[in-house]
Amino acid sequence: MAVLAVVVSYLIGSVPVGYLLGRARGIDIRQHGSGNIGTTNVWRNLGPVAGTIALIGDTGKGFAAVLLGRYLGGQGLELACGLAAIAGHSWPVFLGFRGGKIIATGLGVFLGLTPAAALLALGLWLVVVAAFRYVSLGSIVAAVSMPLWMLVLKQPREYLVFALVVAVIAVYKHMPNIRRLLAGTESKIR
Ligand code: G3P
Repeated sequence: MAVLAVVVSYLIGSVPVGYLLGRARGIDIRQHGSGNIGTTNVWRNLGPVAGTIALIGDTGKGFAAVLLGRYLGGQGLELACGLAAIAGHSWPVFLGFRGGKIIATGLGVFLGLTPAAALLALGLWLVVVAAFRYVSLGSIVAAVSMPLWMLVLKQPREYLVFALVVAVIAVYKHMPNIRRLLAGTESKIR
């Protein structure tokens, strides 16, 4: 049952919401903007309605996977299912294992695991994006801050390790953004 829950979570995470929204509008979102299938690039290229749907869909994937794991097996399985959903979004079987940057799906996972930490990271994301107008910078800072919030909120050690793993994946997935930020060529939001 546990293995099945993890596989289902991976498949849930693999559903490429942003890509499907692009297809519904006749474009391959991977050929536009940053080429990412996530909320930011969908918003950038398809507008706020599609962007909001992508945000809800991608966040919902992570949240649903955590709930599935919790319902079927408790803390260990909810972490495994959350990580599987993040892996699915990042390396989706439906898109040749080339997926998104895990920020919205990660938000959903952490909202399921420890909502206070997720909201603190979201608040930090808002502050950084408002100050610098780089979504990617806000995403990186928020992801890296998550282990800190786990410590501040005295969450179980497993959650701290989980947050560290997710932060590493998020930074790795944002390497093209980091290169653009350093080169001064990253796109700002208006
Ligand atoms: O959540 C992804 C965001 O941090 C960066 O997106 O499209 O600017 O690479 P993008």
